[in-house]
Amino acid sequence: MASNIKGFSKWTKEEKLKWIATTYFSDATEVVPLIKTYWNSDEDLQKLHDEFIENTITNFYLPFGVAPNFVINDRNYTLPMVIEESSVVAAASKSAKFWLERGGFKASVLDVEKIGQVHFIYKGDFKKLARFIDSIQNQFFSDTELLTQNMRKRGGGILKIELRDKTLALENYYQLHVTFDTKDSMGANFINTCLEQIAATLKEQVLVYTEFNEVERELAVVMSILSNYVPNCCVRASVSCAVADLASSEIANPEEFVAKFIQAVRIAEVEPFRAVTHNKGIMNGVDALVLATGNDFRAVEAGVHAYAARNGSYSSLSHAKVEDGIFTFWLDLPLALGTVGGLTSLHPMVKIALKLLGNPNAEDLMKIVAVAGLAQNFAALKSLTTTGIQQGHMKMHLKNILNQFKATDDERKNAVLHFEKNIVSHAAVVELLESLRK
Ligand code: MEV
Repeated sequence: MASNIKGFSKWTKEEKLKWIATTYFSDATEVVPLIKTYWNSDEDLQKLHDEFIENTITNFYLPFGVAPNFVINDRNYTLPMVIEESSVVAAASKSAKFWLERGGFKASVLDVEKIGQVHFIYKGDFKKLARFIDSIQNQFFSDTELLTQNMRKRGGGILKIELRDKTLALENYYQLHVTFDTKDSMGANFINTCLEQIAATLKEQVLVYTEFNEVERELAVVMSILSNYVPNCCVRASVSCAVADLASSEIANPEEFVAKFIQAVRIAEVEPFRAVTHNKGIMNGVDALVLATGNDFRAVEAGVHAYAARNGSYSSLSHAKVEDGIFTFWLDLPLALGTVGGLTSLHPMVKIALKLLGNPNAEDLMKIVAVAGLAQNFAALKSLTTTGIQQGHMKMHLKNILNQFKATDDERKNAVLHFEKNIVSHAAVVELLESLRK
């Protein structure tokens, strides 16, 4: 068992690694060199990665793949995708190709507002509070002027500071609900810095507001923080074509296909158990792009799922319809993304990913990410409502199983041939390898 340690963060990387290995592993002499094989031989590059977080002992690889043939608003893209799930990039590429031949994807940004809040407790007359907040509106803006200067130059900044009465939900609870435009940055640091200044102004001004009595002057700020719920920082992605044009080698009867496809979407709209998996499929595409471009996937995940439940029940993020013989499939996603700041200017692979996308601004990245989600959802629903998901999924997973059993090149060739005609399963691969190895 590990004993409590002090000052761990100050130890060298070697010391930390040695401690981890000897405390938690019986085969420390093997574990340390294995972990070290993931260190980069370029010391500057390694140092850069070490310093992203505290207590780094090594790097953790995820594949960086690409999905070509995406046409978005008539422009061709190859999407960078960071993901470990074997079938995701293949599904994205397949979807891209399918829609490339049918006019491509369309995407548009609906709005770009982000939210931050100063939460506070106030025990007094609401009207008086409202007058007070009104009276210090200009002060809020002038006290944050220096902080917002650069953002304002880029056309963003603080848009609105509203007082919200939340006392029906929680006794004496109010908030300053602040709306921001952070342009091409995700804006978390900018928003939080502004909010802390707004809270400081609030605390300062409360002490000198002559209309307040002693109890009212005890107004207490609980916390100041951005919200990752961004329903007004939203993008729409869609595909559309005549039903008959959906015919392909895999879709013999487009009418039947569309009817079943729309049924599948309806099920996800009304059934939360299905909606969660349906949306997970969307997030396969979204997260892969969000990670590749150095954005905060936890923030995106939290915001997207809150949005999926905005009407009181968790529901599908995508929708489908047929009108006048035209099939339309679309998706609205709240996405707070950045293409400047944060990891975007630090991580060499993030820079490559952004370059691959033509160095998009935040709005263009929102469109691309939403399209990746829609493409993934289309591929999943197409498989689910036709062949079933496992056929494609297990074909992609075959390589992982072969790797697990350290298959030789000959065994791999044999396996690929064999599973062209047979169903892939873990047991079937083991059986084949055993028979080949006899
Ligand atoms: C697997 O990662 C994603 C799917 O389950 C999504 C879905 O069911 O729609 C295939």
